[in-house]
Amino acid sequence: MRSRLVAVVGTLLIAVAAWQSRTPVTAEERIQPDTVEREAKPGQLPTIKEIMQESHKCRTSYLNLIREELAHETEIQWPEVVEKSRSLIHAGKMLALNDPPRGARSSWEKRTTLYVANAVLMHDAAERRSVEDVNYHLKKLRLMCVSCHGEHR
Ligand code: HEC
Repeated sequence: MRSRLVAVVGTLLIAVAAWQSRTPVTAEERIQPDTVEREAKPGQLPTIKEIMQESHKCRTSYLNLIREELAHETEIQWPEVVEKSRSLIHAGKMLALNDPPRGARSSWEKRTTLYVANAVLMHDAAERRSVEDVNYHLKKLRLMCVSCHGEHR
């Protein structure tokens, strides 16, 4: 199960990396080639609650921070948008490694893989400085909250 997820996420990252290689990005903006295994050291895996509080709770919600940043229009701090998108990729990978409190494992894997995929594409859009594309994936991620909670929370 886990190795299949790793393979799916890995393939996605490679596909996006190949696509990205056509546009120049600065070193600090590039996704670090981290793997799910390396990030998930035993005893260090954050719980679903911790991930939700860190990345989704109103005050510090990464999605809200990105949306606020995009509202600045001419003065968008792109490195901030890139960084927060990267945090969401990480959050998605950590979610995938957790077991949901309820609901089928296969559904959880599908949802968390989709979450990571959208975060990867949002990160890519941020590197390309495309407000339109970042917004598109922001909306996609927002639409996932309620349906995932309905199934797994
Ligand atoms: C892949 C599934 C999934 C997605 C997507 C998801 N959540 Fe959650 N969320 C959960 C689960 C499962 C819990 C319950 C965790 C528990 O109680 O152990 C939860 C709990 C929460 C909590 C309560 C945390 C706490 O302190 O108890 C908040 C707030 C939250 N989610 C916000 C969001 C928002 C906002 C989004 C969308 C931007 C979102 N979540 C997307 C699965 C998801």
